[in-house]
Amino acid sequence: MHAIARTFTLLGVDAREVRVEVDVRNGLPAFALVGLPDAAVRESRERVRAALANSGFEFPQRRITVNLAPADLRKAGPGFDLAIAAAVLAATGQLPAGALDDVALAGELALDGAVRAVPGTMAMAEAARRGAVRAIAVPAGSAPEAALIAGGRVIPFERLEQLRELGGEREPAAPEPVRPSSNGAGLADLADLRGQAGLRRALEVAAAGGHSILITGPPGAGKSMAARRLPSILPPLGPREAVEAAKVASACGRPVEPALAGRRPFRAPHHTISAAGLIGGGTPPRAGEATLAHHGVLFLDELPEFGRGALEALRQPLEEGTVNLVRARYAIELPCRFQLVAAANPCPCGCGPRSGGCTCDPAGVRAYESKLTGALADRIDISVHVEQPDLGSFTDPGEGSAAVRDRVLAARELALGRGDGRANAELEPGAVRLSPQCERRLAEAGLSAGLSGRGRERVIRLARTLADLDGRRRIAPGHLDEALSLRRRDR
Ligand SMILES: Nc1ncnc2c1ncn2[C@@H]1O[C@H](COP(=O)(O)OP(=O)(O)OP(=O)(O)O)[C@@H](O)[C@H]1O
Ligand SMILES: [Mg+2]
Ligand SMILES: [Zn+2]
Repeated sequence: MHAIARTFTLLGVDAREVRVEVDVRNGLPAFALVGLPDAAVRESRERVRAALANSGFEFPQRRITVNLAPADLRKAGPGFDLAIAAAVLAATGQLPAGALDDVALAGELALDGAVRAVPGTMAMAEAARRGAVRAIAVPAGSAPEAALIAGGRVIPFERLEQLRELGGEREPAAPEPVRPSSNGAGLADLADLRGQAGLRRALEVAAAGGHSILITGPPGAGKSMAARRLPSILPPLGPREAVEAAKVASACGRPVEPALAGRRPFRAPHHTISAAGLIGGGTPPRAGEATLAHHGVLFLDELPEFGRGALEALRQPLEEGTVNLVRARYAIELPCRFQLVAAANPCPCGCGPRSGGCTCDPAGVRAYESKLTGALADRIDISVHVEQPDLGSFTDPGEGSAAVRDRVLAARELALGRGDGRANAELEPGAVRLSPQCERRLAEAGLSAGLSGRGRERVIRLARTLADLDGRRRIAPGHLDEALSLRRRDR
């Protein structure tokens, strides 16, 4: 006897359909699982056996073969349990014929038959809608996020025995979609940052246009502190961005509520991270920090301490907004439209090689600087240097995030109203026109600043943001001058 159940496996942040084929025939009792299962999938056997027995079903004492198709796709994780159990039941006549024809199922089983949450149900619901099934049954705990995907029915499952209700009148009702909530605590406020007027201005411009920014300066000047306050002045996610960010969070087993509430992700991986951890990879492929930062901020604190391989790997994704992973067994695309924020000391000891107190050896300084001027330098729009804050400034609090955010929002609104809903930093080359006067200014200044072709484009976009903050429709030569000075790396 034979039956098929449909389920999904996650590849990065998208789901691919997997068919669970079960064949049950007479012979010595056995349970074989084939189709490139990983250890967690192989162990599904034991969970399915116990869960069926504990849910009032019969586990057949016959030869059972389970095949997961397509055979060349590696299957990982415990999320196949529910579909395997359902197919075994259908193959032994314990579910009515046709019960599984038009549904997909995903979920992990506990030994007592409870259905446990699995990551990626948003991606699965999306794939189910494309795959023309009537509905997708998912763990009740993961169902509210799956219900965010419009146009398909989601059936929340709490227990294995609910398989009996599939397609009938008692089929569990569709869940309410997850509600946005930013999960409590407010964001750290810029008012905490004292002095550092140049850094404040740079952060405001970066926030308004979505520009990448590098902050250099001596230890304890407030670089990390300032960078961590960027989220408090960023514009909220738009509706489409919010769903995309939520889908990434769902696939990575993280809460989706903050994204739905419009909060931009902020990721600050430690500098010991590997290239795969940063951009994604592995078998099965998983999203990296760059993807978790999709539509938000990727903060690389102590930039020169990151491995060269990791920084190199970030170049193309930073330019294109996607990571393309091509391996022998898969080719996937991961979204990663993030704003890069980096911080660094001027040299390993932190004093700055041109200051009197530097104790670093010259070779060390060169290696350190090469990380700053290397892989990512050309991709950084704003480069700002800070010195120690004026200790006298500590008595008066800085401007709070709310006021700065108002200016950022006004500027971003101008930008979004002009084009196809993108922040200035993401505009296509040539999208911003300059007046002949500005063209001349840029040609002269760019030449003396040694601007690359890519750098020129970035200066123009930066100038566009400065004009937006000014509430101006046209870019003035003054905006270009400030853009050039924001970009320059004068350490
Ligand atoms: N400009 C500032 N305003 C208010 N507090 C500051 C400022 N600069 C530093 N501090 C205080 O010093 C602490 C350390 O600052 P922070 O971690 O931002 O330094 P940093 O520049 O990142 O140094 P490092 O190069 O060592 O990483 C902050 O948590 C804050 O309490
Ligand atoms: Mg720091
Ligand atoms: Zn030094």
